[in-house]
Amino acid sequence: MPTAFHDNPCKRVVRETWDTPVLEYLHRQWGEKFLYFGLPGPQAHDIRLWAEMIRKVFAFEDEDQRLSDPRQNIAELRRQLTLLGIQHAVFCGPLEEVVLLRKDRDGTPLSIEEFVAWFNLDFCNAITGRVTTQGGRKCLRFEALRAIIAFQRELYRATQSSRFIMLITVHDTFTVSEIRKFIASPSLSQPTAAFIERVGGLPLPRSGTRHNTGVLKAFMFTILREYLRGQNVASRFLPPVAYVGASGGSPMLHFVVVCTMQEETTAQPVDEQTVADFLRMRVLRATESGIEGHSDKRLGRRVVTDPLLELQSFARTAKSAGSS
Ligand SMILES: C[S@@+](CC[C@H](N)C(=O)[O-])C[C@H]1O[C@@H](n2cnc3c(N)ncnc32)[C@H](O)[C@@H]1O
Repeated sequence: MPTAFHDNPCKRVVRETWDTPVLEYLHRQWGEKFLYFGLPGPQAHDIRLWAEMIRKVFAFEDEDQRLSDPRQNIAELRRQLTLLGIQHAVFCGPLEEVVLLRKDRDGTPLSIEEFVAWFNLDFCNAITGRVTTQGGRKCLRFEALRAIIAFQRELYRATQSSRFIMLITVHDTFTVSEIRKFIASPSLSQPTAAFIERVGGLPLPRSGTRHNTGVLKAFMFTILREYLRGQNVASRFLPPVAYVGASGGSPMLHFVVVCTMQEETTAQPVDEQTVADFLRMRVLRATESGIEGHSDKRLGRRVVTDPLLELQSFARTAKSAGSS
């Protein structure tokens, strides 16, 4: 069950100081309004802030059994989007289940015919967390992410659009068993292994959950990069931003990934930063007064506080590669 969302000053700083310049830049570069796919929450603070750049919203909101009307948040989200005058569809249930079944709890089909330019996967719990599905509590987030990226491939074939941005926010904790598999994987790169060593990720406890921002940084990059490469998507990751979420004690980690889908015939996605490039970028920290490099220097040497400087070279190369 997702935790009820309340806006807070650090979240606002992430939206306004970090995400907004990136979204405005891509909106200008790509010359289009975005189709938004994600989790706006009942008050739709993000949609309200970025309404000028959005033409359509595909939103997901789960029932909350703690409320006298479990569907109150879903109704409120629909009401807010209607008031904003934005074309929208709100799907009821866990996003993961709706994506995998391609229909929501009411049986409404998830039918998207336009390329999704912007994902805002603003989860309240961990990337390894479980959701309450009709078949019980399940960890479906990885499967859903993979399905979303595969779905983009289908849309690319149908529309020839290729560029999109993914904002992904997760609780800054992980289930040890998932990280054990990741660390034991024969394909774990040498820079990643060295980084995990440096951030004090080892030894892991036998089970349970753990908080280690450095390990989560490396893990998220590795799984997302693998899923994106699986569909021949070139990607550039900005440094993750850590902040304390709504309930005051919730450490969150926010990722921004700019992606370009390439022809299936292209052998390898071009113009990607390497794993070492990404790990070198220090995790940032958002406070009420702004964004700065994290005080823990093990989380990367290079402090990048201007997201646009990072992105400009990528956008130039993607354009010259002829992407639409
Ligand atoms: C962090 S809040 C959204 C904040 C919003 N994007 C913003 O910037 O203000 C996430 C919202 O999505 C819902 N939610 C979280 N995880 C979900 C999931 N897996 N499926 C469906 N709804 C989810 C929560 O109930 C909450 O209302």
